[in-house]
Amino acid sequence: MRTVYVEELARHVGEEVLIRGWLFNKRSSGKVRFVIVRDGTGFVQGVVTPDADPETFELAEHLPQESSLKMWGTVRADPRAPGGYELSVRKIEPVHIPKDPFPIGLKEHGVGFLMDRRHLWIRMRRQVPLLRIRDSVLWAIRDFFRKRGFVATEAPILVGTAVEGTTTLFPLDYFDRTAYLSQSGQLYLEATCMALGKVYWIGPVFRAEKSKTRRHLTEFWMAEAEVAFLEHEGNLALQEDLVRHIVEFVVEDRRRELEALERDPETLLKEVREPFARVTYDEAVRIVRDHGVEMEHGDDFGAPAEDALSAHFGRPVFVERFPKEIKPFYMKRAPDDPSVALCADLIAPEGYGEIIGGSQRVDTEEELLEQLAEYNLPREPYEWYIDLRRYGSVPHSGFGLGVERTVAWIAGIRHIRETIPFPRMIDRLYP
Ligand code: 4AD
Ligand code: MG
Repeated sequence: MRTVYVEELARHVGEEVLIRGWLFNKRSSGKVRFVIVRDGTGFVQGVVTPDADPETFELAEHLPQESSLKMWGTVRADPRAPGGYELSVRKIEPVHIPKDPFPIGLKEHGVGFLMDRRHLWIRMRRQVPLLRIRDSVLWAIRDFFRKRGFVATEAPILVGTAVEGTTTLFPLDYFDRTAYLSQSGQLYLEATCMALGKVYWIGPVFRAEKSKTRRHLTEFWMAEAEVAFLEHEGNLALQEDLVRHIVEFVVEDRRRELEALERDPETLLKEVREPFARVTYDEAVRIVRDHGVEMEHGDDFGAPAEDALSAHFGRPVFVERFPKEIKPFYMKRAPDDPSVALCADLIAPEGYGEIIGGSQRVDTEEELLEQLAEYNLPREPYEWYIDLRRYGSVPHSGFGLGVERTVAWIAGIRHIRETIPFPRMIDRLYP
């Protein structure tokens, strides 16, 4: 007798197998009782008839939701069964029977209620496939970079300086000084890429975002890449290849999960098939205004502006050449117009917002010192970063992809709080 996972049932049609999992739901129809069991890899329906042993037939009626159990039965292919396979159950043996009813029923609950029970909510219908899609997105990123000869590296989380502006820093006591939680590993990846050529990392980053939106977390995961001798155009090509790879990989790897979320894989594939759109900031502002969204030239794009751009293009769009004032100190300026940065944001289709921010980096000591001064940043804590421009400086570029926003887009989930097991937001530290 084989112990198998639900996702392996297709290979065991006609055999008796053992499934270990949790009771998700049950119902009766005449003399037959149905138990839906989940085991992390999927959901399977067990069919219990009066031919099963009497104790099992009884359990199928009375076991409460989220009882953990072992279930023996014969695998049957049935196109009507959810997932395509079901089990003719011979025996059920409980592992643990909850004393109290599971707090999350199968009916609708408010988001606050669910978020307070996130540790249990993650077991439910939508959450399981979603977290499996997240896993696949992370694998896709690693697969892409490894195949291209990038070296995986790390950046510290405890840092002494800001990367992405000083307003979203989390300070903490660090012995006799103040340290901050890192907003991005970029500055350190710039150093590492001068040692290893092309590098990436995937890690948690932190921003004291005071706004509550469906696109902002205070702790989120970023996949960042940095490449020596890479310039702006090559940087965009790399990002485009990465995003296309992620979509193709996940569609192949997690088709069942996408279907469970009613996300059409064809929509995703179609969005990334053509070359991504490209506009300048100036053009983007005009398009946004044409769509009836008000914004001043010089403002950053808010959610309504991003949504207008995404509706306009219907596929990912790079917005290039932002005014330098709304971008960080480290971006190189365009050679033909020093008022704009040599950068791009990638806006996802269907209103999922900016998923990548990237740029070519300042590569001379003189420019860097000027730009630090322009942003009123002290020179001393950045001395090591300035060194990178003193010893064999080369043009280099990189970017950071927001993992949760990418998962939200691919899975078709509106709010990024569901794309990470335990989201952190301005009003959320529990559980
Ligand atoms: O555009 P950002 O701020 O870029 C950087 O941090 C660069 N240093 C990255 C680099 O060049 N290495 O952030 C990158 C991406 C955004 O495009 C967005 O997808 C995501 O990170 N992001 C957030 N995701 C969730 N919650 C937040 N508060 C986020 N802020 C940024
Ligand atoms: Mg950005």
